[in-house]
Amino acid sequence: MRVRRALLFMPGDSRSKIEKGAALGVDSIIMDLEDGVALNNKPAARASIAAALREVEFGSTERLVRINPVGGEFYADDLMATVAARPDGYVLPKVESAQQIEIVSEWLFQAEAEYGFPQGSIALLPIVESARGIVNLREIAGADPRVAALIFGAEDFAGDVGAIRTSEGKEVLYARSAVVTHAKAFNVQAVDTVYLKLDDTPGLIAETRFCLELGFTGKLAIHPRQVAPMQAVFTPTPDEVAAARRLIEAHEAHQAAGTGAFALDGKMVDMPIIRAAQSVLARAEAATRS
Ligand code: COA
Ligand code: MG
Repeated sequence: MRVRRALLFMPGDSRSKIEKGAALGVDSIIMDLEDGVALNNKPAARASIAAALREVEFGSTERLVRINPVGGEFYADDLMATVAARPDGYVLPKVESAQQIEIVSEWLFQAEAEYGFPQGSIALLPIVESARGIVNLREIAGADPRVAALIFGAEDFAGDVGAIRTSEGKEVLYARSAVVTHAKAFNVQAVDTVYLKLDDTPGLIAETRFCLELGFTGKLAIHPRQVAPMQAVFTPTPDEVAAARRLIEAHEAHQAAGTGAFALDGKMVDMPIIRAAQSVLARAEAATRS
């Protein structure tokens, strides 16, 4: 599975931001056609994204395009104008049903056949950002094998339910946890919402750390400055890797001697702790592959 620690948004009509994003070493970039682009500039943004996909060198950065909501007036043109230039995936905003994902997936099968791309190769990353979307998470998470990650959108969600955003985010904790739980139940990645303050690295790191602790595998970014701190939070430190290895080695020695639970440094260790250590090693391994 591809590592997606930071996914950097930029307006699709800004070639300079796309080029800047492509050179940052970020895991994924999301070229936006939805709310980051003015209504009268959607056609220009579609053309700009298609040209960038063909011309810009993205290295190992994943190239994603956020289209407009499926079922609305713009998404079909968004897909038609960009698919031939072969993005790695589409980010779908305001997803509330499995049907919205199916519509795009089926359309993509036709396009993949037409352009000779491998069937099913274009990924889908739905954003769940409404009360109805949260209530329907189960059908959304399991809608289609193309779904690679569930993304939580806190600002739209808060607006939809009439919540007032706070810096601690207690008003979105239920929805945030629901997204990560459903993602894990369906074996896909979980990506957290944007951090709106552009000049607050300590706050960004704290919120990213909180999301990591909840189980998220990545977070949306909106400014180049957010990328490195975010990717660092999702990458285990050498000390964390060493501690995880030591736990697993002790566990293996105890298993060989016929013991399950044991004590290490004054703490009980059993299978859930070992699984957590394995997940640290898996994250470290994924980060080195990126
Ligand atoms: N992706 C790539 N490059 C970006 C960027 C982004 N998201 N945000 C800023 N940059 C670039 C700027 O173009 C500028 O480049 P330059 O030095 O070559 O001129 C540099 O980074 C510094 O930018 P800065 O002046 O600090 O920010 P700004 O005022 O130009 O832009 C925003 C501020 C919020 C408009 C911008 O960060 C942005 O467009 N963010 C993404 C918005 C978006 O996509 N929203 C929809 C999803 S929520
Ligand atoms: Mg939004």
